[in-house]
Amino acid sequence: MMTELQKKIVELKEEKNAVILVHNYQRSEIQKIADYLGDSLGLAKEAAKTNADIIVFCGVMFMAETAKILSPDKTVLIPEQDAGCPMADMITAEDVIKLKKQHPEAKVVSYVNTNADVKAVTDVCCTSSNAVEVVKNIDSKKIIFTPDKNLASWVQRFVNKEIIVWNGFCYVHDRISVEEVIQAKKEMPDALVLIHPECDKKVADLADRVGSTSDMIRFAKESDKKQFIIGTELGLIERLQRENPSKEFYSAGTVKICQNMKKITLESVYNSLYYGNYKINLPEKTMKFARKSLNEMLKYD
Ligand code: 13P
Ligand code: SF4
Repeated sequence: MMTELQKKIVELKEEKNAVILVHNYQRSEIQKIADYLGDSLGLAKEAAKTNADIIVFCGVMFMAETAKILSPDKTVLIPEQDAGCPMADMITAEDVIKLKKQHPEAKVVSYVNTNADVKAVTDVCCTSSNAVEVVKNIDSKKIIFTPDKNLASWVQRFVNKEIIVWNGFCYVHDRISVEEVIQAKKEMPDALVLIHPECDKKVADLADRVGSTSDMIRFAKESDKKQFIIGTELGLIERLQRENPSKEFYSAGTVKICQNMKKITLESVYNSLYYGNYKINLPEKTMKFARKSLNEMLKYD
């Protein structure tokens, strides 16, 4: 059942030939009006192939920028201008250029959680879904990996390459503690533990499965287990529960919320469609170079 406001958004969206792309960490009421609901990689692919005139991106700024870079002729809107990602702001293009000078033989892999000008000085972008494949396949034994130290250390387990790690992190995932996961396991000994690779490596060590948000959705759906302890943001837990009503999903410790993702509300989505708030504009040159590293990323599932 849709609320009046949800119905109005859907009507306006159709009138304007817009598409609403929604990340798994968005509020449930926004997840329900999505044309596509998914992880960073799925959303980037969807943005690249849409036929709509307007993309309303319900996520954070780097995701909307990615959509604009991949679909430069479309109007890309983000309903809240200050929905940024603190991890993306932990590295600048100048930092990357400095690292490249220090390690001229290395190739740069950047998490898609970066600003557009960082992508423009990156060889290949990646998401948590395809980071291991990207690093494995890139033509270099030495990799500068930015900005997430935790994702870098997860990737390092699978590749025999030297990885130079930047000290960035996600404040939502890095907060999930070993003690919380151990306590949750004690309380639910039959539950499987699913952990996002943005978590600390000691937390990942406790997992039955480490994966992106879309990996968690696939895994929980296919598993014949009934209980799951989830090490990621609340929005994904709500989606898992909605789509698997016969199973139980618990947060690993206290509920973890990305305040930045939650800035977008149904009201701001409506205003975005009605008034055209807020248009993503990026310099052509930045987009041209960033598109190269993003298109490289899209070769990997
Ligand atoms: P994924 O949905 O790609 O796993 O990303 C997690 C995240 O933190 C996005 O900001
Ligand atoms: Fe950034 Fe973490 Fe929020 Fe994702 S969950 S948008 S990485 S702060």
